[in-house]
Amino acid sequence: SPNAIHIDPSRVVAPVDPRIYSGFTEHMGRCIYGGIYDPGNPLSDPKTGFRQDVMKVLKGLNIPVVRYPGGNFVSSYRWQDGIGPKELRPRRPELAWLSEESNQFGTDEFMAWCRELGTEPYICLNMGTGTLEDALAWLEYCNSSADTYYANLRRKNGHEQPYNVKYWSLGNEVWGPWQVGQMESHDYAKKAYQWAKALRLLDPKIELISCGETGFSDWDRVTLRKLAPVIDYHSIHIYTVSEGNHAVNAMGPAAAEKALDITKSLIDLAKIEGDLDKDITVCFDEWNVWDPVRAPGEKGAEEHYDLSDAIAVASWLNVFLRKADIVKIACIAQSVNVISPLITSPEGLFKQTTYYPLHLFSNLMQGLSLDVHVKSPVYDSKTVPTWVSKLDKHEPDARKLTKYIDVSAVLNVEANEIRVAVVNRHDSESYTVPFVFPREVDFDGTVKVYEVWGEQLGLSNGFDGEKVATKEKTVEWSGEYELKRHSFQVLVFKLLK
Ligand code: AHR
Repeated sequence: SPNAIHIDPSRVVAPVDPRIYSGFTEHMGRCIYGGIYDPGNPLSDPKTGFRQDVMKVLKGLNIPVVRYPGGNFVSSYRWQDGIGPKELRPRRPELAWLSEESNQFGTDEFMAWCRELGTEPYICLNMGTGTLEDALAWLEYCNSSADTYYANLRRKNGHEQPYNVKYWSLGNEVWGPWQVGQMESHDYAKKAYQWAKALRLLDPKIELISCGETGFSDWDRVTLRKLAPVIDYHSIHIYTVSEGNHAVNAMGPAAAEKALDITKSLIDLAKIEGDLDKDITVCFDEWNVWDPVRAPGEKGAEEHYDLSDAIAVASWLNVFLRKADIVKIACIAQSVNVISPLITSPEGLFKQTTYYPLHLFSNLMQGLSLDVHVKSPVYDSKTVPTWVSKLDKHEPDARKLTKYIDVSAVLNVEANEIRVAVVNRHDSESYTVPFVFPREVDFDGTVKVYEVWGEQLGLSNGFDGEKVATKEKTVEWSGEYELKRHSFQVLVFKLLK
């Protein structure tokens, strides 16, 4: 057959780290205010102000870690403004999105929210206007059990026990011209190195994340080289755009796959050059489909996603699965309202098209990631986003990344199941594809299928209803499966032994 999906459960890439299904809440647009925090709204808890409908949907996504408070926002954020009695908290000008920050939601509220959600907090430090002293004070406030000023301030604010925040990152997109406190790579690396040393003196148990760029830039090379001895993860950010073209939208995540290969090599190189014997992996702490022209950051970046975007998000997640050996944390940007799978109004919420692949992945695609071999037709026109067209030029075999049939698979030992996530990215062709397993793999004659599909790529969801959602069915297994045009599905094979 010209098309085939070969799956061998003995070919394990790595365990899937559940933290690849992490989230991100920034003080931006309606993510915090009107998103997760909406005091006085009947849908919110009267004590905390946390929206309970949002909490319920996020709980269903099993989010292990949430990054906070930015993003670009953090680079002029004074964390001290966001603690203590709410009526005393100052309003400040906000320089990332040119808005105003009321500081009614701050560190203690975020910790309480994380606890209710059952997720681990991850704090991104302000390396724009913030000083090392501010960063140390924030760490002391969150994690110290000593009899010292900021630990006592936390107690005074009603929080006796330290929060023990494990994940701390050294700035956000410090390379970006839009960033308050933008730096050159060498300057950033020197500064972050000093910060890392001091932060670890205060709390040796924390895990530190360096601020990378795309994973395939000189910034990544320079900063990794200097920071490798003091960090645990290198962060990278990529957004893909559709520019109104489905193939471009769906193939965009190929850039992330290539970026991860390059970052892995840069990490190796930094370890070799520094003679280091330690683990450094990738924290892909911002990823998603985002067209900033369609949904500008200054206007709250409320993307209204369609089925094409859901196909792109499924392809994104396939990349993280296939690269399970190097990506250990990934945070979708963002968790509510801002380029998000979830949109709220004062009266309720709806789940965007992109919610459905995310939900299927975080609930089903857990276990050991398997090395799948896929025979598929490839998309071989030029792609518009810079990332992918760069690949066109420089990747000797770029076409292997732009297969129409895009697949990841896991062996879930607990459930004794092989689960296969398959995207057919073609906008008009359906493909009937054999699934090929080694002879000794024996499974139940029926296969459970979770499908995200619609007649048109432009279908989207809204407060008036959801045109795109997961449909479940059970099929008699014939050895092959018809992948409808522009469809996403997870097939679950129950193993017999
Ligand atoms: O997630 C939206 C923004 O995108 C973040 O604030 C920033 O880090 C990135 O440029």
